[in-house]
Amino acid sequence: MRTTSFAAGAIFAAAANAALPDGVAQLDVGRRQAHPRLRRRATANTDSTSIANDLSEGGYFVTCKIGTPAQTLTLQLDTGSSDIWVPSSSASVCESSRNSDGCSLVNSADSSTFVVTGKDEFSIAYVDGSHSDGSYFTDVFSIGSSTVTNMTMGLGESTDINFGLVGVGYKTDEAIVSTEEDLSAAYNNLPLVMVQEGVIKTNAYSLWLNDLDASTGNLLFGGVDTAKYTGDMIKVDVYTDPDTGTFSSFIVALTSVEAVSSSGSDTLTSTSFPVAVVLDSGTTLSYVPQDLAEQIWKETGAVYNAEAAVAVIPCSRASSGGYFTFGFGGPNGASIKVAMDELVLDLYSSGTATFSSGQYKGEAACEFGIQNSSSSGPFLLGDTFLRSAYVVYDLVNNEIGLAQTNFNTSDSNIVAFASSGAPIPSATAAPSQAQVTQTPTFTTPAFAAESGFGSTATATSSSGGSSGGSGGGSNAAGVNAVPMDLLRIGVISATLFAAGGLLIL
Ligand SMILES: *[C@@H]1O[C@H](CO)[C@@H](O)[C@H](O)[C@H]1NC(C)=O
Ligand SMILES: *[C@@H]1O[C@H](CO)[C@@H](O)[C@H](O)[C@H]1NC(C)=O
Ligand SMILES: *[C@@H]1O[C@H](CO)[C@@H](O)[C@H](O)[C@H]1NC(C)=O
Repeated sequence: MRTTSFAAGAIFAAAANAALPDGVAQLDVGRRQAHPRLRRRATANTDSTSIANDLSEGGYFVTCKIGTPAQTLTLQLDTGSSDIWVPSSSASVCESSRNSDGCSLVNSADSSTFVVTGKDEFSIAYVDGSHSDGSYFTDVFSIGSSTVTNMTMGLGESTDINFGLVGVGYKTDEAIVSTEEDLSAAYNNLPLVMVQEGVIKTNAYSLWLNDLDASTGNLLFGGVDTAKYTGDMIKVDVYTDPDTGTFSSFIVALTSVEAVSSSGSDTLTSTSFPVAVVLDSGTTLSYVPQDLAEQIWKETGAVYNAEAAVAVIPCSRASSGGYFTFGFGGPNGASIKVAMDELVLDLYSSGTATFSSGQYKGEAACEFGIQNSSSSGPFLLGDTFLRSAYVVYDLVNNEIGLAQTNFNTSDSNIVAFASSGAPIPSATAAPSQAQVTQTPTFTTPAFAAESGFGSTATATSSSGGSSGGSGGGSNAAGVNAVPMDLLRIGVISATLFAAGGLLIL
């Protein structure tokens, strides 16, 4: 079974930036265990249920330095929010041993350049109920070999989260805009300050998350690395937020999904096509409309588990040769293939769950990377999608460049954006995206690909022995139940496994 979590507290070294051209800044992005997804609670139209149900604990982290002298912090990278915030060493969050792993705090008293801005209170809340409150401050902030001197950040003086975030989204999505209900309250966030201080030329960056099994990818501000993708880079339009009419998140039009395996291929449909999806690196899984999710589950053999409130799949299906092609921006637009080995994730950071009944009885159960959502949209394509794509976020032209990722390459050919507002280098626009107003249709596919998705999945015996159908809490999908609250805080001990009827490998 693949390992999807890295040692908590691991520090990821900044990239060696010696060979970088002018006007770009690069940093390594490392994957490690995190809390369940921290998605900022929006005022309206957020699918809190599905996000709060996100059980996997992988997040992408970057190493940053704050203050004078510099304090090194490990912060979660998030394209789905727009503030940098750090927990304060005065917060009690790291005092309990449960939280001490992976703690990354800032001690403001030790920085001679720390200045409280006197702005409104800093306050951010996430759909899983966690929060961070405190004040805004400015200080020196470094990523990779680049430094900005006057970065506005939130200081979490009262928080239950033991690491901070680097949000690189639109400034209209900053917490202060919700707090003050006023767009003009927004300040220049990280990529904008990098432009302002001359580190990069335009507000744009590229994200290469790399393979699920690779420990690092990178984030490149102000440029595109054309060696990190294969085929053409196609750019598609970002759509404005349906509620506010502003550009505030990376919403693009998902216009087709195709399932392909050795036994055939199917064009999947949805009454929600074209589906408004947010490309969000801070979300571990992907969430699509119910009708689309159900077709994808049937193709792959994933089954919904009511106890865990997620779709699960035999772990062995990671080696299925099947894949999905996600199309964006209409015919001949961007298309990204996502293979099954990127879509099968460990359910727990340690130990494993086993199907106790049903068609997969005795097999190890994994979390499936594509989940359903009851939201009316926009939906979310998180890390399970983003790892297969090289994604360029251009916040000036409101365009996103998408190309098939080049997994694990050590090659690099970095091209900087020429100037503020320059288009994405080496990208061509999706030719028919102006016509993306299809009539939503739903046709049950023939499921010609279904048998191919299952063909390599010979029943793997679980090495923990038989689950014996014990432990109560088995349900229709046959996965032994674990109390939700235990999963969500990520504390899964051997005792709890035993109590839940689960097996430890
Ligand atoms: C630092 O940034 C803040 C907020 O953007 C701004 O109000 C302030 O004038 C800046 N200070 C300096 C010294 O540039
Ligand atoms: C990428 O590298 C990781 C770690 O070495 C490896 O497990 C994985 O199979 C590689 N992925 C591809 C697509 O080659
Ligand atoms: C996902 O689908 C399952 C099975 O159809 C359903 O029970 C569940 O309520 C759905 N979850 C969401 C968040 O829509």
